[in-house]
Order: sequence, then structure tokens, then C-alpha cells
Amino acid sequence: MKVLIVGSGGREHALAWKCAASPRVSEVLVAPGNAGTAAEPKVRNVDVPVEDIPALVALALAERVELTVIGPEGPLVAGIVDEFTAHGLKCFGPTRAPSQLEGSKAFTKDFLRRHGIPTASSATFTRETFDPDWIRRQRAFASAPIVVKASGLAAGKGVVIAECAPEAIAIAEAMFAGRFGDAGREVVIEEFLPGEEASFIVMADGTHIIPFATSQDHKRRDDGDRGPNTGGMGAYSPAPVVTPEIHARIMREVIEPTIRGLAADGMPYTGFLYAGIMVAPDGTPNVIEFNCRFGDPEAQPVITRLKSDLTVLCEAAVAGRLDTVTAEWDSRAALGVVMAAEGYPDTVRKGDVIEGLDRAARLPGKVFHAGTRLESGKVLTNGGRVLCAVGLGTTVAEAQREAYALVEPIKWTGMQYRRDIGYRAVMRERSSPAR
Ligand code: AMP
Ligand code: GLY
Repeated sequence: MKVLIVGSGGREHALAWKCAASPRVSEVLVAPGNAGTAAEPKVRNVDVPVEDIPALVALALAERVELTVIGPEGPLVAGIVDEFTAHGLKCFGPTRAPSQLEGSKAFTKDFLRRHGIPTASSATFTRETFDPDWIRRQRAFASAPIVVKASGLAAGKGVVIAECAPEAIAIAEAMFAGRFGDAGREVVIEEFLPGEEASFIVMADGTHIIPFATSQDHKRRDDGDRGPNTGGMGAYSPAPVVTPEIHARIMREVIEPTIRGLAADGMPYTGFLYAGIMVAPDGTPNVIEFNCRFGDPEAQPVITRLKSDLTVLCEAAVAGRLDTVTAEWDSRAALGVVMAAEGYPDTVRKGDVIEGLDRAARLPGKVFHAGTRLESGKVLTNGGRVLCAVGLGTTVAEAQREAYALVEPIKWTGMQYRRDIGYRAVMRERSSPAR
């Protein structure tokens, strides 16, 4: 069978690599892909942008694609799955209606409240309904930071943590004035939740759920979780913060009521569902956000650990038969270090030659590409997050060593990466060596 992957990041490289490894698959097309997908056996890049849904439908029909997997949120929120399905094409991902879980934080807060799912208390405002006195009146905001979020899609940048009420009011007003374009037309203001964050990703078919291996991302750019928020500077799997007890609570208190609630609301959810969970000191799994897709860079280590055939899982989900399949995992830990371009997460330098990929390819582990492109046989940087080096090991500490050994030979002008990916898990392993 032929498979189409839509997207061009590290997540899509991991999805394409995994699908190409299936003996059922003759060819994987990636639209538009990157220099890493271009070099994979059985994989071919097709130069169609992710926003051009009619051209992607035409490509899938012309190439007789039997399964399409959508990587990024943009086309999902725009309704790509609805379009593919209307043309009789099998497409794994949520339709437009439930993709609002990522497309609108205002929708999500209302959904969580109606279904009794734990989350930070909040209020949603538009420019017309904004009430600065509401912020001043909240007792919780007097002693803790205030979280101000643009409701719409803002490429992971629409969340600002304010230290005091006047700052929060100024940020909300800047959002209404267009700081994040349309994404800031509605603004969610919520209490700050302390705790440790985990990425909980599942596959759903409208009714049935397969939880994927747990993971943790590092959102801040600099070591020690400092500096600006990014799309993610590295991730590892499993995340020891998700103990078996916390896992059971997340499934029972968050994931199951979400899938049931969406079905009850007339918008059944098929696809990867990503819950960003803040585990409170008492173990309560508060929802920080939902994403209607796999995480990036979580996909790189998590998919590296997946032993089952991803195409079988996706086809079963599209058929509403996830109850008939299982996902098997490599018991080893996997850890991915993101290597980013100078300037990331703001305006980045592009077009630098990446050296040392051939030496890295001879080492254990795998380098997934994200923002790269090929030009006259050379691999050039072409985006903020450029590569993600994934290592495996019997412990997170060993996976960390393998990943950083892979980073070692790779160089380009302005390259930046964190030196401490996985530090929380490594600290936990040191204090209780039997994982
Ligand atoms: P989001 O785009 O909603 O995931 O927010 C980006 C990041 O901001 C999250 O990954 C958290 O690290 C942080 N954040 C968001 N909401 C809260 C909150 N209510 N309390 C504490 N941190 C938060
Ligand atoms: N790594 C966080 C995300 O994919 O949104």
C-alpha cells in the first residue's frame, strides 16, 4: 500500500520512517517533507504545501494513496480530514469539529467545565466583554502568576505568564489589539498551576482508546527550563512522573471523559489526541492544553519505541476498530535532543550548511530532520528546529548519553541545543535506581 504523510517537521520524519518500515507499505509520500525524509528508503517527497488541501486530495487520488496521516494542526483545524473522507480517502486524524480542542482554548475550557474534567479555573473574554476588574478581584492572582492565553492557534507562542494584575491586563489588551492576529480575538485568563508537566498522547477511533507511551517535553529554550517558550527543545519517553497510579487517573479523569464527551456532543474524535497534563502535588491531572495531533518533538522518541506497525493501528482507528489491535513498546527509554538554528524561537538564520551528518549516521541512534532542505547535494538549515537526535538505553541516563553522542559530530553556524534534556528523569533514576 501507499501511505501519504502531510507535514515537514521532525514528527513527520518519524511518522514517515516508521510507516516505511512496514512490510505492507510499498511507498511513503511526504508532502512537502524535508532533507531527512528525502533520504529515507521507500520515501518520496512531493512538493505540495500543507495548506493546499485540494492539491493534497488530488495527489492522494492520483497516486492511489490508501492511508493518509496528518502531522500538523493547521490542516486538521482547517478540515483536511473532512475533505479527504468526502473523496472516499482513508485519512487518520480528527475532523474539523473536534480539532477545536486545539484550535480554540475558549472552546476547550468550556468543554472541560461542562464535562467535569480537571483544569485551571479561568475566564474567557473578547475585547467587548473584557473586564479588568475581574482580574483584580481574583484572590488567587494576588499571590501567584497569572496565565494569559490567546485562544486561537499561535504556533506555541500565545501563552504569557504575567507576574501581577496590571501586567496581565496589559498583555490581554495587547492580544485584543492584534498581537497574535486573529488568535487573540478571544483571550483565556487562568490561574497558574504548579507541578510537573507530562505529555499524554493517545490514539482514538471515536470510541476506543489506545494510550501511547508517556513522554515529557522541555518547552523552554535554555538549560534548567529558562528562557523563552518554544515548540519543544527535547523530549523523552517514558516519563517517570506518570506513575501507574497517575496513568490510571489521567485515563479515568481526562482521556475517557474527553472521548466520551466529544462523542456525546456529536463530534466523535478519531486521531492522535495529545493532552498536556500538569500533575499537581496531590496527583490531580489538570489539563493545561489539548493538541489534536502528535507532539513534536515527543513523536521522535515515542515512535522510536513503538514496535507495532503504525499503519495497522491507523487503519484500525479509521475503521473504528481500535479494540481489535494493541500497541507494543520497546522497554528501553528513548530521548531526543532538538538542535535549533540561531535566533530560535524568534526570527532564525536559514541556509547554513550542516556538517557531520554522515559521521552521526554511523553511530547508534537516529537523527530525525525537521527544518532542513537539500541543495546541490548539501543539507541546509531551513527552519527553527533543525534536527532531533534520538538515543535509546535501558535507562533515561543511557538514552541521554547515546543522544548526545549523536549530537557531537554535527555542526553549523549558530547551532544551539540544550545540554540537560531528561534531567528530571535522570534525577529520579538516581534517587530510585530500579525504574
Ligand atoms: P499551552 O500552549 O497552553 O500549552 O501553554 C504553553 C506552556 O505554558 C505550557 O506548556 C505550560 O508550561 C505553561 N502553562 C500554560 N498554562 C499554564 C498554567 N495554567 N499554569 C502553569 N503553566 C502553564
Ligand atoms: N511539544 C509540544 C507540542 O507538540 O505542542
